[in-house]
Amino acid sequence: MTVEPANDQRQLIRIEPMLRTHLDRVIEIECACFPRPWSKSLFLSELAMPATRAYFVANLGSEIVGFGGMMMAGDECHITNISVDPLWQGRGIAKHIVLAVIDEAITRGARSITLEVREGNVAGQRLYERFGFEAVGVRKNYYVETREDALVMWVRKVNRPAYRELLETIRSEIGDLSAGIN
Ligand SMILES: CC(C)(COP(=O)(O)OP(=O)(O)OC[C@H]1O[C@@H](n2cnc3c(N)ncnc32)[C@H](O)[C@@H]1OP(=O)(O)O)[C@@H](O)C(=O)NCCC(=O)NCCS
Repeated sequence: MTVEPANDQRQLIRIEPMLRTHLDRVIEIECACFPRPWSKSLFLSELAMPATRAYFVANLGSEIVGFGGMMMAGDECHITNISVDPLWQGRGIAKHIVLAVIDEAITRGARSITLEVREGNVAGQRLYERFGFEAVGVRKNYYVETREDALVMWVRKVNRPAYRELLETIRSEIGDLSAGIN
């Protein structure tokens, strides 16, 4: 079930580890966001590998409104997905999710972080650029269903103080959001 945003209602945003019980709602959001959504079994297999994977959901009140996750390979982190319910986009929720994913990656020893994003996905690219990612290459026809190319984005030296400062700047920008979201 999807809860419509109510203008007169401020709600707290909370980031929590993704659980199997969240998956029906996660897949609802996944289907609303992607032409070729991940299946429940793919999410289940990711959740079954906590040593190298970390997935989070964003809650507003009792409603899951977004999620994201990553896999670790040595000192590299690969962000696998970040999605926000279309009804709740544009309110800073993705920034909360990306912060949680990157914090976890750094805690686990990441020095660099990479991801793929559709060449036509301006919102996704701007989001990642806010976190210091730069496009360094293209994977041709990476998204077979739409024959779209993927931009490969990287941010390096995330374990250095300069990057932590960037994260703290973003954290302070969205601090007010944590106190309540309309
Ligand atoms: C991309 C996505 C996750 C952004 O979620 P969101 O909660 O709306 O994003 P936020 O409100 O936290 O915005 C974060 C930043 O993203 C960028 N952004 C978000 N929406 C944007 C848009 N429509 N156009 C341009 N930039 C946008 C902005 O830089 C923004 O920061 P700013 O407002 O301080 O400038 C969301 O649009 C989504 O789920 N899209 C479908 C799935 C997807 O494409 N995921 C990413 C690739 S895996």
